[in-house]
Amino acid sequence: MPKITFIELNGLSREVDAPVGKSILDIAQANDFDVEGACEGSLACSTCHIIVDPEWYGRMRPAEEEETDMLDLAYGLTRTSRLSCQLLMSEELDGLVITLPSETHNLMI
Ligand code: FES
Repeated sequence: MPKITFIELNGLSREVDAPVGKSILDIAQANDFDVEGACEGSLACSTCHIIVDPEWYGRMRPAEEEETDMLDLAYGLTRTSRLSCQLLMSEELDGLVITLPSETHNLMI
């Protein structure tokens, strides 16, 4: 089973099982990480914002325009930010490292 390491705000990190085909949002939520995902993956919020380790960023499928537009609204945007609902786990991403951002902005409230 591939793995993802999530690094939380407090600096603690945890490696979790990451089933192939699941979104990174689903994997984070299944492991009780604080990633809201208010629109459940329909690209209508930016609360699933995560920060991809720079070493991994270039190995991921590039963001579509809709994702980039929505990401622009995320707080704490970085050069390696993505929306976790748009990223599906694959064998190639085994060992992926993700940092959770400090704040999210829920446009759906
Ligand atoms: S959960 Fe809303 S854009 Fe990802």
